[in-house]
Amino acid sequence: MPRVTFLYCGERTGEVEVNTSLLDAAKVVGLPLNHDCGGNASCTTCRVEVQAGMEHLSEIDFDEQDLLDRESLSEPRHRLACQARVLGDVVVRVPTSKWEVPG
Ligand code: FES
Repeated sequence: MPRVTFLYCGERTGEVEVNTSLLDAAKVVGLPLNHDCGGNASCTTCRVEVQAGMEHLSEIDFDEQDLLDRESLSEPRHRLACQARVLGDVVVRVPTSKWEVPG
């Protein structure tokens, strides 16, 4: 199974089934990402910065690219965790802005 590593206040790593979204993978490793729109590619609060393994994520689709472009996040390393599905090992960094650990 693919290994997913989240960098946020240290490192959390776990293994997930192929095609698991990064948003669900974060839950697996005990890091509940914000997802204000419920995973519908319309808020960007779930965004992450891919540090390694971009080629091991599902291809970006029109809706995701359109939202990232509108929010000026279209530089290639950003992905929406609710849309990107894990196909192989990947390392992502969770931005500290617009994100906090839920109480
Ligand atoms: S949860 Fe809103 S864009 Fe991913």
